[in-house]
Amino acid sequence: MKILVTGGAGYIGSHTCVELLERGYEVVVLDNYYNSCAVSVERVEKITGKKIALYEGDVRDRVMLDKIFTEHKIDCVIHFAGLKAVGESCAKPVMYYDNNIGGTLALVEVMQKHNCKKIIFSSSATVYGDPEVLPLTETCKTGGTTNPYGTSKLFQERILSDLYDADNSWTVILLRYFNPVGAHESGLIGEDPQGIPNNLTPYIAKVAIGELKEIGVFGNDYPTPDGTGVRDYIHVVDLAKGHVSAIDGVKGSGVFVYNLGTGIGYSVLDVIHAFEKACGRKLPYVIKPRRAGDIAACYADASKAKKELGWQAEYGIDDMCASLWKWQSMNPKGYKS
Ligand code: NAD
Ligand code: UFG
Repeated sequence: MKILVTGGAGYIGSHTCVELLERGYEVVVLDNYYNSCAVSVERVEKITGKKIALYEGDVRDRVMLDKIFTEHKIDCVIHFAGLKAVGESCAKPVMYYDNNIGGTLALVEVMQKHNCKKIIFSSSATVYGDPEVLPLTETCKTGGTTNPYGTSKLFQERILSDLYDADNSWTVILLRYFNPVGAHESGLIGEDPQGIPNNLTPYIAKVAIGELKEIGVFGNDYPTPDGTGVRDYIHVVDLAKGHVSAIDGVKGSGVFVYNLGTGIGYSVLDVIHAFEKACGRKLPYVIKPRRAGDIAACYADASKAKKELGWQAEYGIDDMCASLWKWQSMNPKGYKS
């Protein structure tokens, strides 16, 4: 079975390629390297000892897509390609809508032409907005997104659902990721943010390696046990395996929605302390004001994926921090190291 992985050179995409290749799937990657580079794909080939058919190009480029679908008999697409920085999406909304929604539209159009009607879409817990109840189940209300990035995810879910309503032969799998962190156990692939990281764990890792001075904790007055924000952190390898389980486990056509999380919420301070254990030293932090658009707490009820796909997260917060620390130590400058 051959899978097209858009955005396959990126953080989650590269880890998913490893799991796909190790399970015997053939993999084709399309990436424009906007937020990645070809080195990650080489590393995936090194880890697995298998080859990837690699195309450099934009997922909005219908001619490029047509070439790929003509050269390969693609059975299923995993669609990671997209822009994901929340702050940047507020500053450049048109760029985000164009890239994310435009990419999905071009992709499904060309898939349809080539009669490939199975797509797995990278969605996000952000589509739930500020949760009314916790843990979040897949039937919880969506909407109320607070930034163009989140709204683009919501729209893309809707577009794919409408596509199924119009043509019931599609299989649309919407995977709502919680907070992916950590890296592959080899230390060869991991998250490689450009500039100062926006997300918590890459920021902590850069403080631990000495590149940044101290961690800023965004608010300690939330209605959570220690006052800092609570999230459902999931090891990126567990998340990657969730995609393979979705390919294997979803039978027939329809729209299938799954939360991919652990079901456990950790606070910012919990994560800092877990990382201190991983790197073996105290990490400096200061309490700062809340970050605009942040919510107090967000964690999943991931029982649907367990029941229907037989998938559940296996790694805990200590594994996540240890693997991130290994990646950071082995590659202090990311893929440029
Ligand atoms: P990433 O930036 O590492 O990977 C995305 C990849 O897509 C990059 O390699 C980038 O170069 C590529 N890309 C972007 N636009 C493209 C285009 N127009 N054409 C071709 N390639 C393009 O991000 P990631 O963390 O691996 O995220 C993968 C997907 O998962 C994204 O859609 C993201 O929104 C979604 N997601 C991520 C998180 C998270 O916290 N990391 C959470 C929820 C959902
Ligand atoms: N935080 C800090 N200091 C930092 C960075 C973050 O205290 O330097 C806090 C945040 O306030 C929040 C928690 O750490 O309480 C996690 O923040 P992240 O930025 O790591 O992650 P978010 O939950 O804000 O968002 C992430 C992705 C989104 C995605 C969402 C749900 O960035 O794209 O998870 O999947 F939508």
